[in-house]
Amino acid sequence: MAEERCKAWEFIGKNGEFRLEEADKSSYLYFPLSNEAGMMSVVTPKLHGDIKTSQNTFALMPVSVEDLHNTKSARNFWLNIDDEIIWSATGNSAQQIALHFNPEDEKVTVEAGLLWHKVIRENEKLGIKSEITSFVPANDDTVELMEVKITNIGEKDKKITPTAAIPIYGRSADNLRDHRHVTSLLHRIKTIDSGIVVNPTLSFDERGHQINDVSYGVLGSNQNGERPVGFCPIVEDFIGEGGNLEWPKAIVKNLDVYCQAGKELEGFESIGGLRFKDTILKAGEEESYIIAIAIGENVDIVDSLAEKYLNKDLFDNYLSQNRAYWEEKINKVQFKSGNPDYDNWMKWVTLQPILRRIYGCSFLPHHDYGRGGRGWRDLWQDCLALLLMEPEGVRDLLLNNFAGIRIDGSNATIIGSKPGEFIADRNNISRVWMDHGSWPFLTTKLYIDQSGDIDFLLEGQTYFKDAQIYRSKRNDENWEPEDGNKLLDREGNIYKGSILEHMLVQHLTLFFNVGEHNNFKLEGADWNDGLDMAEERGESVAFTALYASNLLEMANLLRELAERREINKLEIAREMKLLLDTLNNKVDYDSVEAKHKLLGQYFDSCVSRVSGDKVEISIEELANDLKVKGNWIIDHLRKNEWIKNNEGYEWFNGYYDNDGKRLEGDHPLGTRMTLTGQVFTIMGGVATDEQVEKIVKAADHYLKDDIVGGYRLNTNFKELKTNLGRLFGFAFGHKENGAMFSHMAVMYGNALYQRGFAKEGYEVINSIYRHCKEFKTSRIYPGIPEYINQRGRGLYHYLTGSASWLLLTEVTQVYGVRGELGNLVLNPKLLKKQFDNEGNANIYTLFANRPINVIYKNQKELEFGEYNIIDIIINDEEINFEIKDQSAIIKKELIERLSLDDVNEIEVILG
Ligand code: G1P
Repeated sequence: MAEERCKAWEFIGKNGEFRLEEADKSSYLYFPLSNEAGMMSVVTPKLHGDIKTSQNTFALMPVSVEDLHNTKSARNFWLNIDDEIIWSATGNSAQQIALHFNPEDEKVTVEAGLLWHKVIRENEKLGIKSEITSFVPANDDTVELMEVKITNIGEKDKKITPTAAIPIYGRSADNLRDHRHVTSLLHRIKTIDSGIVVNPTLSFDERGHQINDVSYGVLGSNQNGERPVGFCPIVEDFIGEGGNLEWPKAIVKNLDVYCQAGKELEGFESIGGLRFKDTILKAGEEESYIIAIAIGENVDIVDSLAEKYLNKDLFDNYLSQNRAYWEEKINKVQFKSGNPDYDNWMKWVTLQPILRRIYGCSFLPHHDYGRGGRGWRDLWQDCLALLLMEPEGVRDLLLNNFAGIRIDGSNATIIGSKPGEFIADRNNISRVWMDHGSWPFLTTKLYIDQSGDIDFLLEGQTYFKDAQIYRSKRNDENWEPEDGNKLLDREGNIYKGSILEHMLVQHLTLFFNVGEHNNFKLEGADWNDGLDMAEERGESVAFTALYASNLLEMANLLRELAERREINKLEIAREMKLLLDTLNNKVDYDSVEAKHKLLGQYFDSCVSRVSGDKVEISIEELANDLKVKGNWIIDHLRKNEWIKNNEGYEWFNGYYDNDGKRLEGDHPLGTRMTLTGQVFTIMGGVATDEQVEKIVKAADHYLKDDIVGGYRLNTNFKELKTNLGRLFGFAFGHKENGAMFSHMAVMYGNALYQRGFAKEGYEVINSIYRHCKEFKTSRIYPGIPEYINQRGRGLYHYLTGSASWLLLTEVTQVYGVRGELGNLVLNPKLLKKQFDNEGNANIYTLFANRPINVIYKNQKELEFGEYNIIDIIINDEEINFEIKDQSAIIKKELIERLSLDDVNEIEVILG
């Protein structure tokens, strides 16, 4: 494809602020504006994009990415200049669009930061300029604010007649193609002193209509707080017969369609059409207008926002509060390396997990699915980053999340909006993702390592219960929704087990749930949602490896628990003891049948309820059981899944398809390899060091491609593999079929770092960064997108689990600052080029709730592998530390003496 020339964004501040000139020359750009109250907006360089607080409360019409260029329903602000020229300050007029390709006509620049967005539009010929700043204040209000500043950059005086025009959709996203017209009949519209408020009578749903109390308002004033002089609340009046939102007759013909405050109308599509008084702007003069787009519980609440926000001083004040709020939030982790642009780019990556906490996996233009909320695996992986950024509430969050696990090791997949709220799946048989059981352990392990709170393992929690049993292979006829969503014991009491027990059941059930090649069954899919068509015979070797390393790590954690708590026994559900076969009658692990038999017995024992009885087991025996199982898997994988192809490359096979055929290796249609198959074998130590080297060679050969910014998820299978999953229906190089899928690529980088392959790990991460920064190809603002497609474009920006993993990788691997049961471990894996000119690299982060600033001093300019930690000085005092496997370990007791409020300076001398 011929590449359009374009400017690239550049950073203009230290907190990720950037500027993109000619922003209107790129399509599909969007930027999020949000707050913790759940206001979720998205804006484009032409102020397109929607605003909502949930699936059912969209103030502006919901947009999918194609709508950004395809619909006219955007935020708009019109000027009639000297009764002659019609100009849209947002660029959304038919005339401007027609002239758009002549760069001389209008210059459009976007500047943005945390979390504000400014578009500057300058038309020298007309002598007019607009600067529109948008943000969502960081407080409890669900309101988006805009300041529209108009400047006369010409030489003569100008009379301007300004009109804000913001179409109010005011209903559920579902109504876009479900009674769009009928739902406009529900609209009750009022003009108030400051603007227009729509309060639909009902929230329309043919399964049961409900009285609606949500109101939507567009309010405005000029910079001094003077309210509009007229209101046009009905779309058809505003556009006029034959007009449209980009050439509305109300503006173009200067029609008198405006009414006064106090008017009530009903039953039409509405618009926040606010006419402001005419103003004479002398040359060089400017005038500002403040617009608020609000979602509120009732008209009065919306009205009250007018007082709070509608004048320039208030706007400026809230804007600076907003910047300070977000800067403080993301500056909980900061990096300073030899590449300031990278450090700045990481600010956006750091913000992304917070955005995903707010938006879920829906509500940005590419994320046009789901109804808000996140999936199970996202819930856990997003916590990885939150542990670093917002550690305060994470213990509760984790504890609550465990209530979603079923006693058969599967979990609820419909996650409610409150922490710990899981909703029963009413489908008879629902899908089970086999990877789901592996994430809680990873996150919990990180939590315990960072905090030292090993007692968390013994905390009690309920189990989730619905009609799904036998890992959703059967239905529990005895369960009724009225029984509630908590597992009961035989007496009808709510059953609770420890957190450890929850994680055990997730791992042990899967250990026995194997396919014909004795790897864990793929079930409904694994991490890759697109591998969803191999339910019967598919196997995920990739995730079998992750579970294996989890089992081994869990065994270590148990031994630590025994030592720290001075205990040697703990309690688990009586039924579960069956799964600890080495404590009873050891099953022949080579026999798939024997494994199934035991699993069947376990499932039979906990169909509707559990007994409620607990048995005591020895921690040593339990740890040993897990170890035996983990080691068996590792041997099995090394023996059976390591492949060598005709070209002499070697790597791990990751999957079996629904015909029971191995996926990877040589194939008449071309070599088949997946990245996922390599990531977890490397991460968990299934691959030996020599195997890692071979995998890297194979991945570099088959998967690496600069066109997509690094390592593809798979090679081109050139086949619609309906015996494996829908992803083979996607064009190659897109999304889960062979794109550079950031989440897995970053995990690949992480795995390489974990194994000490720093140069290789750096290359993985850096190639993603380099690509994203190459704006002419990636066409995204700073940050990491979900994937890079075949043309090199970044898609599904902002909401992606890869951001959590990238942040985690930078902190715990690249800068090597991590916990080990509360001890602080320092093990930098920075390459020479990552240090600055003075030989320093610096990370500021929280550890055990204490702010620490770690400065690595590499004065001798040594390369990774050449340097060791020689000395550590904390707050000007040299301290004792232990060196283990290149890592310096600083004891928990010493960390506990550090300040909780003041920054603790940790100088680490490398030599
Ligand atoms: C998305 C989903 C994630 C899933 C992945 C692959 O990735 O959110 O749960 O595992 O696709 O199918 P993400 O958005 O995290 O980049």
